[in-house]
Amino acid sequence: MIQHPIEINDVSFSYNGTDVLRGVNLTVRSGEFLAIIGPNGGGKTTLLKIILGLLKPSRGEVKILGKPPASARHLIGYVPQHSAYDRQFPITVWNTVLMGRLGSGKPDIGDSGDEESVASALRAVDMLSFRARQIGQLSEGQRQRVFVARALASKPRLLLMDEPTASVDIVMQAGIYELLKEIKKELTIVLVTHDIGVIASYVDKIACLSGEIFYHDSKEITPESVEKMYGCPVELIAHGVPHRVMGEHRHD
Ligand SMILES: Nc1ncnc2c1ncn2[C@@H]1O[C@H](COP(=O)(O)OP(=O)(O)OP(=O)(O)O)[C@@H](O)[C@H]1O
Ligand SMILES: [Mg+2]
Repeated sequence: MIQHPIEINDVSFSYNGTDVLRGVNLTVRSGEFLAIIGPNGGGKTTLLKIILGLLKPSRGEVKILGKPPASARHLIGYVPQHSAYDRQFPITVWNTVLMGRLGSGKPDIGDSGDEESVASALRAVDMLSFRARQIGQLSEGQRQRVFVARALASKPRLLLMDEPTASVDIVMQAGIYELLKEIKKELTIVLVTHDIGVIASYVDKIACLSGEIFYHDSKEITPESVEKMYGCPVELIAHGVPHRVMGEHRHD
């Protein structure tokens, strides 16, 4: 039987009796790039935590890379939303990313292989020249890029990112998406984002999570299908679709 990176079957979850996820089914295949969109409180971060094995569903089954989530965690790179990192904690950019190597399952870190992984992750997000800087002395967007590098440094098979571009400027945002497009050749990516207009040309699939997950395949995106996406269905995005899928969207 083929084991997909993510297999989620009829998963429900509640915090203290309040339903947050209901009957969620999701399969992400190897090498796929999935974006999850949806309203605030729709359960996106909760679903990522279930994938990481940090939360246990009240119902349903989750298999990550063929294993129970907690046993697969060392194969997952995770960029949390608004990283709950103490910004005043005196640690350099380099050591922050080096910590990502701890996730690789090695008993200790700091050998030359680790150095190379840290350097290449920092180079990928264009932050190598900040290597000696304290993490508290960066801008919000620069710090975000360092957290992306930290997730990449463990050379994960599955990369989960919760709004990694939230405070990143438009140029760097494009940089991060180009980077994801590049690394997607080697790994599977799940990205939670509100950048609906930008992601269409990068991702393979968009799911909308609003308590329930909406998912259906379609060959191309149209203004109507984008509207429907806001109302929640999922579209399969054709490759090579121009950037401006949101051109028709009205703000009224
Ligand atoms: N630790 C918690 N205890 C109780 N309720 C929680 C907890 N964490 C989240 N919730 C609630 O669960 C629901 C889903 O939250 P979640 O963080 O998964 O949403 P989200 O889709 O990530 O939203 P956003 O776009 O704002 O990040 C929300 O109604 C939230 O208030
Ligand atoms: Mg969230």
